[in-house]
Amino acid sequence: MPLLRNIGSRCAGGAPGAGGRAPCAAPGGQGALHPIPRAGLVWEGETIRWVGPEDALPRDLRVEDEWDAGGRLVIPGLVDCHTHLAFGGWRADEFERRLQGESYLDIARQGGGIAATVAATRATTDQVLLARCRSFLLEMAALGVTAVECKSGYGLDCETELRLLRIYRTLEAESAQRLVPTFLGAHVVPAEYRGRRDAYVALLIEEMLPAVAREQLAAFCDVFLEEGAFTVDEARRILQAGQALGLGAKLHADQLSDAGGGGLAAELGAVSADHLERVNPSAIGALARAGVVAVSLPIAGLYLQQPPPPARALIEAGVPVAVATDFNPGTAPSPHLPLALLLACTRQRMTPAEALKGATLYAARALARHRELGSLEPGKRADFAVLEADSVTHWLYHFRANACVATVARGALIAGRL
Ligand code: NIG
Ligand code: FE
Repeated sequence: MPLLRNIGSRCAGGAPGAGGRAPCAAPGGQGALHPIPRAGLVWEGETIRWVGPEDALPRDLRVEDEWDAGGRLVIPGLVDCHTHLAFGGWRADEFERRLQGESYLDIARQGGGIAATVAATRATTDQVLLARCRSFLLEMAALGVTAVECKSGYGLDCETELRLLRIYRTLEAESAQRLVPTFLGAHVVPAEYRGRRDAYVALLIEEMLPAVAREQLAAFCDVFLEEGAFTVDEARRILQAGQALGLGAKLHADQLSDAGGGGLAAELGAVSADHLERVNPSAIGALARAGVVAVSLPIAGLYLQQPPPPARALIEAGVPVAVATDFNPGTAPSPHLPLALLLACTRQRMTPAEALKGATLYAARALARHRELGSLEPGKRADFAVLEADSVTHWLYHFRANACVATVARGALIAGRL
């Protein structure tokens, strides 16, 4: 069994685990990381066997290989719980138009936005889409990201939506990173159904969702509930149809307007409600009672120059707040999760510890994978990142292109070196 030793001897706390708890484990809530100074970590195959102070290493553990963390900080592998990974083309032209004053919705009304990427994606071969996703995943691995949620949603016809989900299946089979696929056929109503939105909703419910479920291509069903996308009633019908087929519900909720997304996510017992920049304060208590994870996406907020979601009010109400990139070619064209964490601190007033829990255990909860991912606990996957930083606070404060020196997923080195 490999042992990673000499973790955090240069830091105030080493692997972020106080009081005998495992790093990033649940007790204590959003801001509790449980750092272990001078820690060691032992794993066997893909699974963590032991974590604790190095001088308490049990003698009966058969350690064969010793790796030296050089006194650096070790965190659980980062979990990016909201991305639109597979898409054709880019939309730098729209970035420029928005900078000149046009709004996201205006550009969408003129055939840009999601519709532009749908056209580009349909015209891109599987081979090219696969190659692009592989390179994004490598970039993410170098930053310490070991699990990635990936949405479809740039196909918007049965054939292309299934193609995108099959691409994720291929990538999951070949990569040590964990990929969690989500069906987002309800991203917008595609141009060929203009004026016939009921027919598109029927296609989603009667054909696409059953096909996705039959091939077990997605764990979740997501809907973009927004002006110009889908209404509360449509979203409810689509998500309930998904739930009946065993797909958990996720929702792009209250991003550009207060459209009732927070309330619907709570009503349906969604796994997560994502965005929430404009959530109605009255929905926050319902989200807490329903155990919905709020996923904040501060890179999208940065690019759209929007006010942030009320992260403090959510945390104070007991809603777990995750942080993710929303990586997509329109509103969040960067897969840099540590940048999202920095923005969660500066724009959402989250502490660095709260932000890290939001991209580890709480992000894993937003994917219903918290029994397997998100903390350095025996029995969980041996996914972790070694950071050149004295503490979690110092890591996000002294922001660099990349502070991650090594990433291990399923017990194997996938980026950097040790
Ligand atoms: O999460 N909100 C919908 N989807 C993306 C934007 C997609 C796009 O503009 O291509 C988002 O921000
Ligand atoms: Fe999104």
